[in-house]
This record gives sequence, C-alpha cells and structure tokens, in this order.
Amino acid sequence: MPETQTATMNNFKRITICGGGNGAHVLASILSVRHEVAIYAPFADEAARLNSGCERTGGIRAQARDKTWQGRPRRISAHAADVFPGSDLVLLALPASAHAPTLQAMAPFIGDETWVIALPARGGFDWEARAILGAQAKIAGLQTLPWACRIPAGGYGERVDILGTKTVVGLAADPAGLASDIAVALSTLLKVNLAPEGSLLALTLANTGQLIHPGIMYGLFRAWDGAPFGEDNAPLFYGGVTPAIAAHLEAMSAEVLAVKDALAAHFPAQNWAGVLPLLAWCRRSYAHDIADPTDLHTCFTTNRAYDGLRAPMQVIEENALTPWFEGRYLTEDIPFGLLATRGIAEILAVPTPAIDAVILWAQNVLGREWLVGDRLNGADIPASRAPQRYDLTSPQQLLQVRH
Ligand code: NAI
Repeated sequence: MPETQTATMNNFKRITICGGGNGAHVLASILSVRHEVAIYAPFADEAARLNSGCERTGGIRAQARDKTWQGRPRRISAHAADVFPGSDLVLLALPASAHAPTLQAMAPFIGDETWVIALPARGGFDWEARAILGAQAKIAGLQTLPWACRIPAGGYGERVDILGTKTVVGLAADPAGLASDIAVALSTLLKVNLAPEGSLLALTLANTGQLIHPGIMYGLFRAWDGAPFGEDNAPLFYGGVTPAIAAHLEAMSAEVLAVKDALAAHFPAQNWAGVLPLLAWCRRSYAHDIADPTDLHTCFTTNRAYDGLRAPMQVIEENALTPWFEGRYLTEDIPFGLLATRGIAEILAVPTPAIDAVILWAQNVLGREWLVGDRLNGADIPASRAPQRYDLTSPQQLLQVRH
C-alpha cells in the first residue's frame, strides 16, 4: 500500500460520529470494533437512549445478510465538548438540514488536520463547511449513504439492519488531491467500495436524488385536486412514473448536463465524468434489478428495488390519505440539492425551465419562497444551500481547487 494511504489510515485513531439515526448506528457498530469511537447526538433524548441501549447489550449490533458487527462506542454525548476534542475523523450521518448546526458545534474543538466527511454530502456541502470551518478545513462527501439500513422497532441503541450495501459509492474531497487516499482509507474502515470523484462541485451535480424525488412528486401531484386517496389507491411512487413524468425527468437531467458542460468549459482539467445522464445512472445503479432498461419510463416501472413503494402520504382520517409534501423528497432534496444546482446554473447563465417548474410548484405547496422571477433570491434562500446564499457569484468562486 502506498505510504500516503497508510499514513492517512494510521491518523484515524479517534473517530466522532454525528447523529443518532440509522446510518449512525451502522457506523458506530462497524467502527467501534477496532477504533476509539465517540457519538455526538444532541437531538432530542438520543444520547441517553443510545447510552442505555449500549448498556443493556454491550454494544450496537449491525446485521447484514452475511455478516454481523458489534461494537461499543467509548463515549456518547449531547455535548460537543465531550466528543470532538482530539478527533482525527468526524463523520456526519445526518439529513443535510442538520449539517450547519453540527459543523458550528464542532468548530471550536477541531483543528485543520481533522477530516470532516458527510455521508451523504447532498449539494453544496463544501460551501457550507468552508463558511463555518474555514478555508483550510479538510472535507469530503459521499454521493449517498453506502447502506440501505433501518433500526428495527424497539432496537434503538442496540440493533440496526443493513438491508443492502451499494456496489460502489462516489467520494469527493477538498483538498481534491487527497480524494484517492481518503477513498481507500474510508473503504477499508467501513468495508465498502468508495471511488474518488472529481470534486465536491461535481458531486453536487451528480446527486440524482435532487432530480428523481422532487421531479416525481411534481409529476404525480402537480394536478392533484385536493381530494384524499383511499388506503388502497395511494399512488405508487416509482411505479407511478408515466411516460410524461419520465420526459420531464429527462429534461431536468439534460439541464444538469448543460450546467456540467458549462463548468467543464471553465475548468477543463477537472473530472466531470461522475455527472451522468439520469438514464445512464439508473441503468448502471440498478443493472440487476431493472427488467426492461429501454428508457427512463421502463427503468422506473420495471425496477424490482422500487417495487410496491408508495408516494409519501399522511393519514388525515380513516381511509383518507393526502400527499406528504413536508417529507425529505421536497424539504431536503430541493433546498439542499436542486437549489444548489439551480444556483450554479444561474451563475453560468444556463437556462433551466424544467427544474424551475418543479421549484415553483414545490415552493407553492410548501409555502416557501426560493425562486422569484428567474432569480434565486427569495426569502427562504438563506435556509438553503444555493450558492447565492454564500455570496458566490462567479465560476471561480464555485470551485476553489486545492491540491
Ligand atoms: P435518520 O432519520 O435515521 O437519522 C437522522 C438523525 O439525524 C437523527 O436520528 C438525529 O440524530 C439527526 N438529526 C435530525 N435532525 C436533526 C437536527 N435538527 N439537529 C441535529 N440532529 C438532527 O437518517 P438516516 O437514515 O441515518 O440517514 C442519514 C442520511 O442518509 C439522510 O440524509 C438520508 O436521506 C440518507 N440516506 C439514508 C439511507 C438509509 O437507508 N437509511 C439510504 C440513503 C440515504
């Protein structure tokens, strides 16, 4: 193994995991087997529940199809001062809305040598982390969480089920020159396959959840008349994709590729290969699950992994359901995904009519204001990760290459 990789791994002696959800449980169980692990869990009473769960069982157990890990973190606390000092590696397994308060909490206790890595990064993680931790911070992000995982009922602080592990997940870093070392080090620590991507900016564009989730919600519900659905006729989410919805998703994807091409013209030496057309991404990611890969419509409607999944709904009374717009498909994937991409497009003067239609519909159903006319300067932009929020106005400010 090259010397730098060994050095990076050897430096990761003390690891702090931020979060107390499904992903944090998996990280804690795998990493605590060999490393000194702490958990930062300030949300609600999670720290107390994690502590008592570990007390009962001797450590969190992660159960995958063919493997089990069990590990007990050394320290679990809701207080930053208890867990961050001395950390070599900080892992954020959080919804993107919790990144900013968590970065602010750790900032006084970590140095420039500490790696801070988000799983997943979502859009604009680099801008947010630099704004809070400073330009010298070492940061990285994963394109998604490597596992599909759930804490079973009654298992909080004790168990987590790993339902599936992704074949390969992209990782981008700043300094970019260290992405390969970090990908190797983290792959070894987490027992997953991570592949280096060009930049965190490329990762922002490569986030397909920002297209799929809001795009399908828009397609399914933009003409909804407000009448509740019965329990048995709530629409399928992926299975409800019509040829027209697929066409809109393709138009959104084409706009992202136009943004990528405009960036590539400004930064030709950068690697943008990870920013794939949506159809190519579906075919690659679900090669073994899609029965008919002819086009985007068939990719969604014949994908075994999506079988039977319904659109997010809330029960308003017995046998009466309405779409749940406040869920992550709109409230995470738009402000921490699509708005970052739309903001880059605005800086590069790339038109995005298909993306704009989704944002305008979503801000209407959510009662938010992001897009005003053709500008991202609505009242809710400061609570998003659009680059305009960080006063980034030129391509050079979007990507500050550090090796
Ligand atoms: P989760 O919902 O189980 O846990 C989220 C955790 O974040 C909470 O337990 C809490 O500790 C923390 N948190 C939430 N709101 C907070 C706030 N306002 N302040 C401080 N902390 C807060 O989420 P999970 O499943 O661990 O997922 C983490 C991320 O990974 C999410 O972005 C999710 O969309 C993504 N993801 C999850 C997958 C899965 O199978 N669980 C698969 C792919 C992506």
